[in-house]
Amino acid sequence: MADAKKLFIKTYGCQMNVYDSERMAETLWAQGYVHTDTADDADMILLNTCHIREKAAEKIYSELGKFKGLKAANPNLKIGVAGCVAQAEGAEIIRRQPLVDLVVGPQSYHKLPQMEASVQSGKRALDTDFPEEDKFDHLAKRPKAKRGPTAFLTVQEGCDKFCAFCVVPYTRGAEVSRPADRVFSEAVDLVERGVREITLLGQNVNAYHGHPGGLAGLIWQLSEILDLERIRFTTSHPNDMDDALIEAHGTCDKLMPYLHLPVQSGSDRILKAMNRKHTRDSYFNLVDRIRKARPDLLLSGDFIVGFPGETDQDFSDTLDLVRHVGYGQAYSFKYSARPGTPAAEKDSVDPAVASARLQELQALLTEQQYAAQAAMVGREVKVLFEKKGRREGQLIGKSEYLHAVHAVAPDHMVGKVVRVRIINDMTNSLTGELVV
Ligand code: 5AD
Ligand code: SF4
Repeated sequence: MADAKKLFIKTYGCQMNVYDSERMAETLWAQGYVHTDTADDADMILLNTCHIREKAAEKIYSELGKFKGLKAANPNLKIGVAGCVAQAEGAEIIRRQPLVDLVVGPQSYHKLPQMEASVQSGKRALDTDFPEEDKFDHLAKRPKAKRGPTAFLTVQEGCDKFCAFCVVPYTRGAEVSRPADRVFSEAVDLVERGVREITLLGQNVNAYHGHPGGLAGLIWQLSEILDLERIRFTTSHPNDMDDALIEAHGTCDKLMPYLHLPVQSGSDRILKAMNRKHTRDSYFNLVDRIRKARPDLLLSGDFIVGFPGETDQDFSDTLDLVRHVGYGQAYSFKYSARPGTPAAEKDSVDPAVASARLQELQALLTEQQYAAQAAMVGREVKVLFEKKGRREGQLIGKSEYLHAVHAVAPDHMVGKVVRVRIINDMTNSLTGELVV
């Protein structure tokens, strides 16, 4: 293996990119590459990029500029850009940055072997098509090597919702679902290799229609895999939470009591301007129904502040919604105008006002997050241990509610779901002791 070429992938953005990076790496391993943790000794550097917020493309151009020295030191070094910036910028990257050899959009990863060969022959390669076929089917077969207890599995891509602020429908294209039987075989393969928890991924995963029973149907089918202990999914649109999925939260033991359900704003006026196609009240009703099905479910959300036209009253409606719902976890962002989206045409809110709102909202969400964590102390949870913790003798894993939990436990418990009583709340994680 002395001459094996080394591949370094840097992943930005969401979990779908994490999954894509894994699949791209596996495909290039099949071409004779091995993994390296640093760009310094790589023969191929791939940046798997995200375009969702703020000056994403500019950040990538500046990151690429930093590779100039490496390319001078190793003329055989190949540099590629993948992901949503690749999709959005396309040929512009090749034009603007002579260091780049390869630009591949998120729907074209299965073309990587041919693109790599072409790059090795001294050409520059670009593919940002939206082909009909399922790229995952055309990617290299996944290696049989053992792997950690948790895995992501992309089941759906793209989005048809066209929220006025969002680039996803443009960079990832229309909604496409992978057929349930293919997802099932990939899940079986993951479980055979040691995976015990699978998070099903999609930009709008609950619109999944690769199974006649929708996402709930897929979850029930996967729950039949004996050694698969936990199923999660992310990320969802409120309008696609159908009855079967809500019911599954109450009745499917393997479906974890955690739900990421972005609402973005608590103001009906802003929700309308955002083209969210739901109201504040319909969100409240939905949350009530989900909590009725699964009372201990921990809810997570996404929020945008400073959307064009957002007034003090609109923002206070958002704070009010947060107080009413109570989130165990949340992500909040200052609106950033994305070129090509309808909202980008509108006048923006004063950046200082938007920053102040973000701070206020984050303070409230953090308070709720800490309260939810503190409420775990004294409770018994089930932890899937993932690896060794920082302290000698400790393992770290996740509870059903996705809280990180440390506990003193023997190494052979990695990959096992174990009962743990929470004894302490440590800001970013919980500590507990095994229940024997
Ligand atoms: N500005 C700020 N936040 C955004 N998001 C998506 N687009 C934008 C934007 N233009 C946020 C939304 C979404 C999350 C993934 O990123 O909250 O749910
Ligand atoms: Fe973007 Fe999500 Fe809206 Fe789709 S549902 S357009 S991915 S914010």
